[in-house]
Amino acid sequence: MPAPWSPESWRSKPIVQVPDYPDSAALADVEARLAKFPPLVFANEVLALRTKLGKVAEGQSFLFQGGDCAESFKEHSANNIRDYFRIFLQSALVMTFQGGMPVVKVGRIAGQFAKPRSSNVEKLNGLELPSYRGDIINGFDFTPESRMPDPQRQLQAYRQSAATLNFLRAFLQGGFASLENVNRWALDFMKGKPIEKEYEKLAAKISSTLEIMKALGIDEANTRELVTTDFFTSHEALLLGYEQAMTRKDEVMGSGRWFDTSAHMIWIGDRTRQPDHAHVEFARGVANPIGLKCGPSLEPDGLIRLIDLLSPDNEAGRLTLICRFGSDKVEKHLPTLIRAVEKEGRKVVWSCDPMHGNTITATTGHKTRPFQRVREEVERFFSIHRGEGTHAGGVHLEMTGQNVTECTGGAMQIVDEQLSQSYETLCDPRLNAEQSLEIAFLVADLLRRERESRGQKAAMAPAAAE
Ligand code: PEP
Ligand code: CO
Repeated sequence: MPAPWSPESWRSKPIVQVPDYPDSAALADVEARLAKFPPLVFANEVLALRTKLGKVAEGQSFLFQGGDCAESFKEHSANNIRDYFRIFLQSALVMTFQGGMPVVKVGRIAGQFAKPRSSNVEKLNGLELPSYRGDIINGFDFTPESRMPDPQRQLQAYRQSAATLNFLRAFLQGGFASLENVNRWALDFMKGKPIEKEYEKLAAKISSTLEIMKALGIDEANTRELVTTDFFTSHEALLLGYEQAMTRKDEVMGSGRWFDTSAHMIWIGDRTRQPDHAHVEFARGVANPIGLKCGPSLEPDGLIRLIDLLSPDNEAGRLTLICRFGSDKVEKHLPTLIRAVEKEGRKVVWSCDPMHGNTITATTGHKTRPFQRVREEVERFFSIHRGEGTHAGGVHLEMTGQNVTECTGGAMQIVDEQLSQSYETLCDPRLNAEQSLEIAFLVADLLRRERESRGQKAAMAPAAAE
């Protein structure tokens, strides 16, 4: 029998990656206020995502999760959200129609603020200060005042998450995300690039399919899927006091289960997945879909123990394993984990985060990720799953709609010296819009190959109907 769980049972467990708040009364006051605020998401939405992820675990859909490494207060703007949403939906469209599979769309947005750090302190010019832990905790500026954890920031993070989510919901309802609209967007960054031709080819195919459907009487007036789409939010559940404050017992639906209403899906980071620690304890008791980051230090036995704790009912859709080994390590680690999970008959979604195992320091001192390595990890992830006969179920990207220069390579051939041109991230380097779309086309190709190797027909028209 598992020990009893409550929203605060994590507090009696060991914990790492916690900020050192100077004023615990002020922190408790903020948490009490947050606990009364409206939930950001509803239980029925969370359960809808679980059902959709269940289909991914069964090999019938694909999970696309992506967004900023860290959202920031300074970059909060309508244009940023719109540009992100465009490239996200377009990438999803490519995976759906070119890849021939329904895509479950989950953003790293509307709450992705807290960051785990490899060191508690940062040194610069002889000064040592606490590390930056994300805007929900402290400020990025390298001054003692800014680096001091401030609980008031949690209120601002909540407000920003609510505003972002409101804007996304309006986009979804207002026709912005209709298939025809997403398909029509010719994005400036594509102009004159090889990817423009590839995208135009796909867009033309989708347009002619839409025309045929219209002629058959299937149109926006009678088919919801043509007017809008489902989009869910997610973030790392790192700052547990905030997550606890947002956790509510479902009374509306009458399930009596606990939901973390800060996002539809939450995940546990690679640095905080110790089975007897606070982060696993918190996540095991909420009914949200849970992501678990799996890095090179995770052994098969350790993984099965974590699955026992996080998904004791073995319900498909509850647990997503987000693998982030690095392009040079994925072949060493992934097959043994897959075999252990298959042997034990555990139902999970296998997703590939090709970002976090491929971070290097450029000659200019910037943290970067060579695009080639990102591609390679995705390719190897798919080919390992093909070999094992399992479903490569998802991809998890750090990406932005802005034309940044943070990851080297890609069709634009960004070199080290160009990184400083537009290096905006507060934390990890993100794929820019064009690089994101390149990964989307790669994923689409690999999904088709997976299907061919299983001898299956496409679940989706039209590209796969060729
Ligand atoms: C992240 O997703 O931003 C992150 C810190 O990942 P990981 O825990 O896998 O290092
Ligand atoms: Co990151």
